[in-house]
Amino acid sequence: MIKYEVLHICKQSGARLGRLTTPHGVFETPLFMPVGTLATVKTLTPEEIREVSEGLILGNTYHLWQQPGNDIVKAHGGIRGFMKWDGALLTDSGGFQVFSLAKLRDIKEEGVTFKHHKSGAPLFLSPEIAIKIQEDLGADIIMSFDECPPPYESYEYQKKSVERTIRWAKRGKEALTTDQALFGIVQGGLNKDLREFCAKELAKLDFPGYSIGGLSVGETKAEMYEMTKFLNPILPFDKPRYLMGVGAPEDLLENVINGVDMFDCVLPTRNARHGTAFTTYGKVQVKAQKFERDMNPLDPGLETSISKYSKSYIRHLFKAEEILGQRMLTIQNLAYLKYLMSEIRQAIKEDRLLDFKKEFYAKTNYPEV
Ligand code: GUN
Repeated sequence: MIKYEVLHICKQSGARLGRLTTPHGVFETPLFMPVGTLATVKTLTPEEIREVSEGLILGNTYHLWQQPGNDIVKAHGGIRGFMKWDGALLTDSGGFQVFSLAKLRDIKEEGVTFKHHKSGAPLFLSPEIAIKIQEDLGADIIMSFDECPPPYESYEYQKKSVERTIRWAKRGKEALTTDQALFGIVQGGLNKDLREFCAKELAKLDFPGYSIGGLSVGETKAEMYEMTKFLNPILPFDKPRYLMGVGAPEDLLENVINGVDMFDCVLPTRNARHGTAFTTYGKVQVKAQKFERDMNPLDPGLETSISKYSKSYIRHLFKAEEILGQRMLTIQNLAYLKYLMSEIRQAIKEDRLLDFKKEFYAKTNYPEV
C-alpha cells in the first residue's frame, strides 16, 4: 500500500508539495514519471532510468498482457524483476489503449471486446481481467479499468460512459486481492457536471489516489487547465492526484498550480527519438541546419551525462540515423523534466511558484496560454 501526505501549500499559487511513500521508494510530489510501456523506457538501461527519473516509472497492462504475456512477467516476479528495475512502479489499466489503439470495439457492461491493434486477434478486457493482469505485473500503484471516450462524443454518451466507468472502478476494487494501491480514474470529457459527479462517486469508494483521465486527447490547453482547476477543490485533499498522459513542460507547471501531484507522458521520450529536445531555454529541433557547426552543448543550463556533447555532434547522429542520438535526447528530455519538477517543488516550498512561472515563460519558448 502507499501513503500520501500534503507537506506544504504554496502561499502564492496554492500548489501542493507532498510526500508519496510506496513499498519501493519515498517521493516528493509533484513529480513526473517516465513511461516504460513494454518494461523498457525506450533506449535506456535501468541504471540510466535511475539517473533521469525520481525512481518511479510507468508500465502498460495492454502491451505487456499481449507481449510477452503477463504470465511470463509474473514468472520473473513482475515488471520489476523482469526488467531489473529496483525502483517504484505504476501500471495503467489498459482502458485507454483499448480505446486509442484497438479496432472494432464492442463496449458492454461486462467489458470490451476488440481486435488487437497489430495482429487483429479477438480480445476481451474487463475491470476484473485488468486487475488480474496488474496483479501479475506487480506495480506499487495500479489503475481502474476505464473508458476514455473521444471529447467530441455527445453529452448523452459521456454520461452513460462515466456511469459505467464508476461501476467498473467499483468492480475493480472488489476484484483486487493484493495490497497494491488502486486509483480511481475521473472521466467526463469537458462536462464539468459529469466530472464533478465522477470525482464525488469515486471519492465515496475511498481509493488511495485519484487519476484524472480523458485530458490531452484533442482539447485545447485552456480547456485542460480549466478542468484541473475545476477539479482541484472537488478531489479529496489528502490523496494524490495523477494527471494521465500529460508531460509538456508548460502543462506540468500549469497543472501543478491547479493541484496535480503526479504526471506521466510519452512526449519527452517519443519526441527525443524524433529529434526534439526539451531544454532549460525551451524546445529545440536538433536536426536544424543552423546547428551543423555549433560546437556548444545542447543545454548549458543542465548538467547531465550528455552535456559534454556538441549540438553539431548530436545533429550529426540524427542525420546519420545513429541510435546514440535517440538515446542522448531521451536522457536530455527526461533529465530536464526531472530538473523542472525539482525546481517547481523548491518554488512551492518557498511560496514563490507564480514568480517561478513568470521567469519560466520569460526564459523559454514554451507556449503560455
Ligand atoms: N492515459 C492517458 N489518458 C488516460 C485515460 O483517460 N485513462 C487511462 N486508463 N489511461 C490514460
